[in-house]
Amino acid sequence: MQIFQTVAALRAFQQDIRAKGQTLALVPTMGALHEGHLSLVKLAQDKADHVVVSIFVNPTQFGPNEDFDAYPRMIEADTLKLKPLKISGVFAPSVAEMYPKGFASNISVRGLTDCLCGAARPGHFDGVATVVSKLLLQSRADFAVFGEKDWQQLQVIRRVNADLNIDCDIIGAPIYRDAETGLALSSRNAYLDAAELRSANQLNVILKQYAQDIRDGAEYDIATADATQKIIKAGFQKIDYLECREAESLKAVHHFDAKTPCRVFVAAKIGKARLIDNMAV
Ligand code: PAJ
Repeated sequence: MQIFQTVAALRAFQQDIRAKGQTLALVPTMGALHEGHLSLVKLAQDKADHVVVSIFVNPTQFGPNEDFDAYPRMIEADTLKLKPLKISGVFAPSVAEMYPKGFASNISVRGLTDCLCGAARPGHFDGVATVVSKLLLQSRADFAVFGEKDWQQLQVIRRVNADLNIDCDIIGAPIYRDAETGLALSSRNAYLDAAELRSANQLNVILKQYAQDIRDGAEYDIATADATQKIIKAGFQKIDYLECREAESLKAVHHFDAKTPCRVFVAAKIGKARLIDNMAV
């Protein structure tokens, strides 16, 4: 497993395999790898001859009062977790490599970013769209795998990839959940103490019931108020959003109609963590 720290080194590798007619799948991450990330790697391995995992805690997608400084960084532990998977490489650039002096560009996606995490975290998706565009162009990957855990992010990336003709095949991977509790794995779960973890474990259960209620034709406002109350009772301090939206366009849905795929989305804060989850209705 090679470690690439510069775009030049990554490019040299990509050119080498391309010359041999081999394909590359990129799995972009911010590190602190868990089984959810590793499930993306396994999917990537099914698609391409070579897999590179990028590990970069991207400063531009964190707001001024968010957890950029506190975000877990453990590159050595991460590379140890990746070793048994026998991937081709890890791309771990510095901030200066990604954003050299004079960097002045920004990719902003309209529409899709107005709601959910886009509304709750202004500028977040500009940072994501910009860094992911860079990673796709730097690696010239044939495939890139992203988790449905960050459903809105996946839609934004699909949009940028199509709009800018990046021509990477974007693959969505199912949410990897704790087998016992159903909690969606997240690097931010590391912020939770034992009591908070017990609360966090209830989030997916409440969300599932919310999806079921909407599917069963419950009055939207009543179902939302009911689930809100349950989340607060479970111990969460604040709910950023709890909503039902069309799966692709992310347009608000207040009446379930089986013809249009839709999903429920939640973001809620507990202790130092802000947890998100989503599922199909
Ligand atoms: P990060 O939060 O590290 O997540 C990296 C990838 O892993 C994302 O595609 C995310 O959706 C996926 N992922 C995380 N937890 C998952 C789970 N439980 N099941 C399935 N997939 C999961 O998302 C980012 O980093 C960044 O925004 C990034 C795309 C790397 C750009 O900086």
